[in-house]
Amino acid sequence: MYNILEIKNLSVEINKKKILRNINITMWGGQSYVMFGPNGSGKTSLLMTVMGMPGYPVKKGKIILENKDITKKTVDERARLGMGIAFQLPQEIKGVKLIDMLKISAGKKPNQELSSDEKKLIKKFMLDEMLDRDVNLDFSGGEKKRAEVLQLLFMKPKVLLLDEPDSGVDLESLKMIGEEIQRYIEKNNASALVITHQGHILEHMGVEKACVLLKNTIYCYNEPQKILESIRKNGYKGCLRCMKRRIKE
Ligand SMILES: Nc1ncnc2c1ncn2[C@@H]1O[C@H](COP(=O)(O)OP(=O)(O)OP(=O)(O)O)[C@@H](O)[C@H]1O
Ligand SMILES: [Mg+2]
Repeated sequence: MYNILEIKNLSVEINKKKILRNINITMWGGQSYVMFGPNGSGKTSLLMTVMGMPGYPVKKGKIILENKDITKKTVDERARLGMGIAFQLPQEIKGVKLIDMLKISAGKKPNQELSSDEKKLIKKFMLDEMLDRDVNLDFSGGEKKRAEVLQLLFMKPKVLLLDEPDSGVDLESLKMIGEEIQRYIEKNNASALVITHQGHILEHMGVEKACVLLKNTIYCYNEPQKILESIRKNGYKGCLRCMKRRIKE
């Protein structure tokens, strides 16, 4: 096991509005992590910042990938170093066919064939009849999520940032997506940070640790099931009360 990604004391401000405050996360190879948090707490902003998407200026703190400081690197430089993201809301790309996007993701030229393993995975993701369609154009919600995760797996990242891969996905597809992500992580000693509201994907993945992002900062680190049960029982208000208690202690 080795330390793949470290997010150290990370703060982000957009137009003087604090979007993220003092975020600390350490990710180890072969392990996955889950992040909970209410709408608007900053989960997507965190993944976007870690990936280096434009528009998320780091006010302070560092992002370290395999002992290399990537805080100032561009999104394409980070992707080449092994960072990958599956977006919460995948964009439609008119004029680019899914097959070509998958080839680009796999580092292949348009005239190159995909490998038999890659073709098998396309079938598993039930996208084999959609390859000649424009990426995400008129795809259903679940189809978009499947296409998004498959592109990410084809890129062979070391760190997978997964923004709600389970939202809007039917139960059978959810099982398949969770199991395929898990298989990939174990085989490649990679690591995933998964955002989920319902936590259903956790039934199909081995997730070691969980955290709660509340009001732009991390309030709690604990076992995934403990956090999920607590949120189900007491809501995020319970997390706030728990935090206040701990500050007093
Ligand atoms: N470019 C921006 N300019 C101003 N505010 C922004 C910008 N980007 C994000 N925000 C704000 O930052 C906050 C966090 O947004 P973010 O998308 O990270 O939330 P989230 O935790 O992913 O929520 P959800 O569960 O709804 O996806 C929100 O209040 C959002 O409006
Ligand atoms: Mg979000």
